[in-house]
Parts: sequence; C-alpha cells; structure tokens
Amino acid sequence: MQLFSFSSLICILALFFLPNLIAQQPQDPESKAMDELMSEIQEEPLSAENMDQFTFIETLLSRMTLEEKIGQLTLYTADWGEKGPFLRDQYLGYLKQGKVGALFNAVTPDFIYQLQKIAVEETRLKIPLIFGFDVIHGFRTIFPIPLAEASSWNLDLIEQGARVAAQEASAVGIHWTFAPMVDIARDPRWGRIAEGSGEDTYLGSVIAQARVRGFQGTDLSAKDTIIACAKHYAAYGAAEAGRDYNIVDMSEQRLREVYLPPFHASVQAGVKTFMTSFNDINGVPSTASRWLLTDILRREWRFDGFIVTDYTSIQELIPHGVAANPAEAGKLAISAGVDMDMEAGIFQNELTKLVEKKIVSEAMIDDAVRRILAIKWQLGLFKNPYHYCDPEHAMSKLLTPEHRSVARKMAQESIVLLKNTDQILPLDKKIKTLAVIGPLAANQSELLGCWWGAGDTKDAIPILTGIQAAVSPETKILYAQGCAIQDANTQGFAEAVSIANQADAVVAVLGEAAWMSGEAASRASLDLPGVQEQLLQELHKTGKPIILVLLNGRPLTIAWAEANVAAILECWFLGTETGPAVASVLFGDYNPSAKLPITFPRTVGQIPIYYSYKSTGRPMDPSNKYTSKYFDIPNTPLYPFGYGLGFTTFQLSKPQLSQTKITDQENCTVQVTLTNTGKRAGTETVQLYIRDEVASITRPMKELRSFRKITLDPGSSAEITFTLTPKDFYFYNRDCQYVLEPGIFQIMVGCNSSDVMTERLEIVKK
Ligand code: NOJ
Repeated sequence: MQLFSFSSLICILALFFLPNLIAQQPQDPESKAMDELMSEIQEEPLSAENMDQFTFIETLLSRMTLEEKIGQLTLYTADWGEKGPFLRDQYLGYLKQGKVGALFNAVTPDFIYQLQKIAVEETRLKIPLIFGFDVIHGFRTIFPIPLAEASSWNLDLIEQGARVAAQEASAVGIHWTFAPMVDIARDPRWGRIAEGSGEDTYLGSVIAQARVRGFQGTDLSAKDTIIACAKHYAAYGAAEAGRDYNIVDMSEQRLREVYLPPFHASVQAGVKTFMTSFNDINGVPSTASRWLLTDILRREWRFDGFIVTDYTSIQELIPHGVAANPAEAGKLAISAGVDMDMEAGIFQNELTKLVEKKIVSEAMIDDAVRRILAIKWQLGLFKNPYHYCDPEHAMSKLLTPEHRSVARKMAQESIVLLKNTDQILPLDKKIKTLAVIGPLAANQSELLGCWWGAGDTKDAIPILTGIQAAVSPETKILYAQGCAIQDANTQGFAEAVSIANQADAVVAVLGEAAWMSGEAASRASLDLPGVQEQLLQELHKTGKPIILVLLNGRPLTIAWAEANVAAILECWFLGTETGPAVASVLFGDYNPSAKLPITFPRTVGQIPIYYSYKSTGRPMDPSNKYTSKYFDIPNTPLYPFGYGLGFTTFQLSKPQLSQTKITDQENCTVQVTLTNTGKRAGTETVQLYIRDEVASITRPMKELRSFRKITLDPGSSAEITFTLTPKDFYFYNRDCQYVLEPGIFQIMVGCNSSDVMTERLEIVKK
C-alpha cells in the first residue's frame, strides 16, 4: 500500500528540514520581523481534498508562525448578553489575528456561523474553529442530571441520551462537549456529585464509555456526532471536605484503583479530549502534573487526543502556590502535557517569550498543535468548515417529539423508589382528592437541575401538571406551595395543612433548588433546605398518607422522612419531561426500576460513606465499645448503593459457580435465576460483587464487577449468567503493580449492595 504520493513525500522532506533549520536559530529580532512578515503573507489556501491527514497537517504547520501555532492552543469563551451570545472585542480581535483555536459558549447557529466565517475568511491561514459547549445532560431537550441517569443502570439508554444531545448540539454547529464528567464522588456535600455517575468505579466506567459512544458515535466526521471530553482529570470528586476546588491527598494505589479507571475506560472508548481538574493531587495541581498528563494518560494509556485545561486553571497555578507568575504557570502546564488553555490567556501571552528564551521548545508546541489540528481534521472541518452549520434547519432539529420521548423514558428510569409502605404506590388514578404540596410541586424553573445547556425552563413540565394530566376527570387536585425552597417563612403551612386535611393522600414535592448542586455548590448540611422538613412534619400530623417526591442534586439526609412518611420517590432533577415521568410512577403507568448509584448517609457525620469500604482491624461489633463505629448512630447507611424498589417482588436463586476452584488464567461463570414473584411486570437489576478475602494489602468488603437489568412478566423467570474473567480479580498492590493474588474470593449476588448471597471461589496459580 502506498502511504504517500511522490509529491507529498518531497513536500514532507522539505517541511521537516526547512522549519527545523529555522527553528534551530535563536529567535533574533530579525526572525521576529520575519514572523511578522509571514503573518502578512496571504498563503494559497491548502486544500484538504487531495491530501492525507499527515501531509495536510505537516504542511499547514510549516506555514504557521509561532503566534499562529499558539493561537491553536487557545480557547476563549463567548458571553451571553441581552441579544444573545457575543464575543468580547478583545477576543474578536484575537480571532481575526488567527490567535484563537477554539471557542465555547457560542450557542446559536447564526453566531457560530458568523464566527466560523471570520476564522476561515479573515485569518491568514483560514483554520476553522472548534466550537465547544457544556452539553452535560442534553442540549435543548434536557435529560435527567447525570447522577439521575446513572440510577437507571441502563447503558443503552444513557448512550441514546448522549446521542440525542449530540444530534441537537451538532445541529446548531457545536463540535465538542465538555462531557462526560467521570469523576467518582463519595461526598454528597460536593455539589458536582450531580454531574457524575456516583460512587462506584465499575458503574462509573461503563457509564463513561456509554456516554463517549453516544456523543462521538462511530464517525467523528458525521454531521451529528460531537467530540467528547473526559473530565475532570483527575480525582476532582475527592475534594477534601466536599468543598469544591479543594485539595486532594490520597495514595497512588487508591487513585489508580478508584478514581482513574473511568478515565482509562473513556480512553478505551475512544474519547478525543481530556480536561484537567482544578484540584491538586498530593501537592501537584493536575494542570501541572506531567505524571498524570504525560506519563499515565499519553504513555501508559496511549491517549492520542488533546488535553484542555479547565477554566483559567493555568492561571490558578499561581494561587495554588506552584508558580510565581504567569510565565512559570505557562511553562508548567505546557511541559506537563496541556495542549489547550481554557480562558486563562497564559499560553497566548507567555509561550512566545518562553520559546524565545528557550525555556519551552517549539517542538513541544508543534506537538500540541498537531493534536488539535488532527481533531479538526477528523471532524471534517478542513474539508468543510461549515459542515456542522445549518442555521436554516437547526431549530427544527431541537426538542423534537422523538427527543422528548427518549428524555421521558430516561426520566422514568431514573426515579428511585426508596420506600413504599403497604404498597401505597401506585396511587389509584380515580383517587377522589389528592393534595399536591410543596415548593417544587408546581415549580418549573428548577426542573432542569444544574448545567441545563441550551435548555429552556419554559419547556419543562411541572409535576403538578403531570399529575393533573394523569388522574381521572373526577379526581380533585388541591395545590398549595406550603413554603419556599430555602427561606424561613412558615406562613404557607396553614393552607397546606388545610388542603391535606381535605385529601385522601398527600404528594409532597420537596428538595433543593437547581443552583444548590453543580459547580461551586457545596453544602455543609444535607438536610432539606429551609423549613421544608418542618412542613413535612406538619403534613404528617394530619394522619394522611404522605408520598414524598424529592428533587435534588445529591443524596440528602432524610432519616425523619424515612421513619415517618408512607412512600419516598427520589427523582433527582429529571429535566424537560419531569411532570409526566413522575406522574407515570405515582399512578403506576411505569413501574420504577432505578437503583441508587450512591449511598445515602443517615447524617453528614458519616461522610464519606460508601459500600466498598474496608474491614479495619476492629470491624464494627455492637457489643464491643472498642470497635470501629459511632456511639450515636449505626455505621450503616440510610439507603445502600444499588438499592431501589419497584411495584412487584423478585426472588433470586442461590448463585451457582461453574467451578469452585480455577487457575488465574481461567474464567468462571456465575448463574442465578431471577423470578418475578409479584403481580405486575417489573424490572430488576441483579448485581455481582466480589471480595478478595486475604491479600497482601487490605481489600474492599465488596466491589461491583457486573450487573444485569432484566424485565420480567409476573410469574416468569430468567436465568442470568455472569462471566468473571481473571481481570476481575486484579488490583493495585502496595507497589502499584496491577496483580492477581491467588487465594479465596467471595462472589456475591444480590439486588442491592447490602443484601447479597455469597459463594466462595478459590483461584490458584497456573
Ligand atoms: C468549569 C467547569 O469546571 C467545567 O466542568 C466546565 O466544562 C468549564 N467550566 C467550561 O464551562
């Protein structure tokens, strides 16, 4: 096979020798003047049509001045004004000078078109821009927040959700989403827990891959796929004390075992970009960590895309205390392996001088440029910079009935039924009088949760509206707000109690405001904000059955509610289709199937609390004071990881192992039979956990290794076979080597992490 044509070979040779010769010369004033002259020379545009990617990029690179190269490494934001998005004059000036490689937050099709036109018509080299945006859980059709989607444990549906988001975002001209956020998070005080998939590494990894597949599809140059970005690399979810942006200090072993795998999984799924995190790890901010960005990400994992920083992260190396000034910060970042500077402007302002002073080599910059140009090539932008721009038809591709229906399905599958005393749910649609109470019951403005993209709260359907549409014409719905989300005013209680007294049942819709989770939204208390719990207590005094519907971006401490109300639905923030989805569960049109991707603590004092804890040398023994426990509350959570109820019952048979002894190179299968023993069709998620009983270092009591989500009619059964491979038993030992140590492993199967049946498997060395 001929790799290059003869002419391209000549071209490449020339390209290699000539610029290298030039680059080896010190940058004297004359060559600087040469650069300036170069920038005035209008080049014949390169045609991508008859060139391969390598030749094209090398040719282009050879024509670029140092400043134009640095421009490619520069990402700026558009702002939002009264008339829509706009670009600051300063940035517009940079754009025209070819000093910008990508823009974000320019969300309307006309504006994106206009900016791309400037890039390809008014700049010397006509290099198209990449347009990025935080498409986190939908673009215009807003899906449940990622933590809610993770509760579905439905990888196909999560992928489909990301697909819809990509179709909508690409329709307006966006090429790049700053998602998925794959940070493992075990501290619900941290507001960004809402943006991830919860506490578990395995679940987080497979969801990360589903999202990457959904965004990127199989062909990046297709009009409706966008590039994904695994963020925030790394361990951002482990911010000390749950306080956003805070430091992280942890062993390499834990980092590699718990926090890095979802990032590695994203690379394996082909993710094209990575974003560095704001935090430091063991004293080194991620943005300056060569170990993280180059040694692990590029060398160990062979990531071939580009790395962008988080917003102004290079600048933040100064307050972190590892750089004395912007020049030092720029040098640290580029040397660590950062390719693109988001919003700090430090690459733009400092790199030229750093190259001139020979502190940073131009070759390093060239490599970063190559990686960014390669993505532009793969997106098809060099062949047609307007490939994604279709201002005329863009709007018709947003918020379509098909997209809303996927969002509704996703919302239904995200709702976790936490409690259902005496099968109070589902409610009868012919219920005579229903009181719907609470600050979020009729609310529309909070339903989209954090990061609502280009969503419009006016499209979201309130829960009250959903309920009204679901009940029989004879049913009387009474509504009272009761109180606000956050303030201390109890004046509305009387009206709420009065309508509760007139009703057969009460649906209380309580929770957080959308802004209370997401970035810079840490909480020290996880109680229902304001006087909402007081309202719930007043409603409880009426003696009416209370169904608590929660909207929130994180686990809340709801021990009182768990002990007192009849039913609890954890709905997180469900997006555009909130109302119909919640109503479908309340009235039984949808049988809830979600499972918690995160542990619910009884109180904040238990945090961090997660299912994969380790034993300690003094495991909890209630009869022995000197064991690892609290004296004022149990160690156990309020609701464990993997927990969630439905309207039917399931029975699981004892797990059967194909062998009880295998070698470290063999697989083992685990079989269970799941039977729907209830009266309605339903869906159960069967989970498989393992535990290494004795190892050279302490191991978690349980680690999720697989799961299956199965729908069964009443009375029917399904046989489930899990295959465990040697990889499932590997871990990082004390020297951070990835090893399998022969010995006894527990194999546990159950429908939540606290309730499992255990078998033992011996693994011997082959
Ligand atoms: C800061 C956030 O940490 C990050 O997640 C986001 O993608 C960028 N801002 C851009 O909006």
